[in-house]
Amino acid sequence: MSKKILITGGAGFIGSHVVRLFVTKYPEYTIINLDALTYAGNLENLKDVEGAPNYLFEKINLLDAEALKNVFDKHDITDVIHLAAESHVDRSIVSPLDFVYTNVIGTVNLLHAAKTKWAADYSKHLFYHISTDEVYGALGETGFFTETTPYHPNSPYSASKASSDHFVRAYAETYHLQTVVSNCSNNYGPYHFPEKLIPLFINNIINKKPLPVYGDGLYTRDWLFVKDHAVAIDVIFHNGKAAETYNIGGFNEWRNIDLVKLLCKLMDEKLGREKGESEQLITYVKDRPGHDRRYAIDATKLNRELGWKPSVTFEEGLSETIDWYLANTEWLQHVTSGQYQHYYNKMYTNR
Ligand code: NAD
Ligand code: TYD
Repeated sequence: MSKKILITGGAGFIGSHVVRLFVTKYPEYTIINLDALTYAGNLENLKDVEGAPNYLFEKINLLDAEALKNVFDKHDITDVIHLAAESHVDRSIVSPLDFVYTNVIGTVNLLHAAKTKWAADYSKHLFYHISTDEVYGALGETGFFTETTPYHPNSPYSASKASSDHFVRAYAETYHLQTVVSNCSNNYGPYHFPEKLIPLFINNIINKKPLPVYGDGLYTRDWLFVKDHAVAIDVIFHNGKAAETYNIGGFNEWRNIDLVKLLCKLMDEKLGREKGESEQLITYVKDRPGHDRRYAIDATKLNRELGWKPSVTFEEGLSETIDWYLANTEWLQHVTSGQYQHYYNKMYTNR
């Protein structure tokens, strides 16, 4: 049976890389991208695959349970890879309920639609839920998050993701839905919305605007190139064991201030600016409330059991990312001006 995979959040940052990988690598599958096109959803991210014969787009909100049910029937969905979410910690501090609606209630709606559609034989279908390392809370100076680290979410974002992870687990235990969950560290790469640290700072360096470093800048994140995350998702989707959790990360920890200085150095070189010019843009600003001090993922299980490991070093991935932003100024301009939100009307209203 050929798979008909519903990928949610495919117009977002990571989702667009997953959709592209699956559409091009598996022409025998049908990929249905379901996305509400919130501020973070941008179909321009998928321009290169939108005409592929095995790709379809459905503009649907996860809160619309009836529309979800219909989409499972209409396309005879066999599997789900669920990425749609509200994803920005700072926004979750301002509007926590938006995160409860999409990340918690939206995920339960999706689980319910899958359960209803697949009731005849759950063993033939997979519900793959994409989560984050932030559910584990903050680490001290040492140690790593493993798959058995207790959940200890600190932000409304991570609390909503933790809740959705628990619901996925509950559907597996209670209804025998086949599920798998992966928890990944911070991603970076092309098509990243410029509200997150790396793309925001690349955009600000291009435009010689201040680089707002929160607090003392000594917060630590573990960075993974987005294309390596997409490959890990492919590997887990096809070879992961049902009911298991896999941590995804590249053993690549950076203190924010060190990362920002590396970014400034690379950007000065690529833009032909004076050495040290962009570093002068660094501005320490008020800290984020409840700011987690350190994240670090132990991805040994994924490597040992499924053979995945990152394909690029941080310097290679960051260099490719900067080159992409410098070559795609139109994308950046459309995103920062809001023009990308007209793309759907232009491309899809007459289909
Ligand atoms: P993103 O914000 O770039 O994209 C989210 C997508 O979901 C957008 O296309 C948006 O339109 C869509 N969406 C939001 N609310 C929706 C709703 N109610 N109904 C339908 N679609 C909706 O997010 P991202 O950074 O690509 O993250 C994707 C997933 O990966 C999320 O589940 C996130 O928690 C997880 N994750 C992200 C990172 C990271 O560093 N970005 C790391 C680990 C895990
Ligand atoms: P972010 O990209 O928002 O990811 P997350 O909070 O999910 O890890 O932030 C990465 C780190 O960078 C985090 O420690 C917060 C910090 N940060 C800044 O210092 N300034 C900024 O303007 C932003 C957006 C983030």
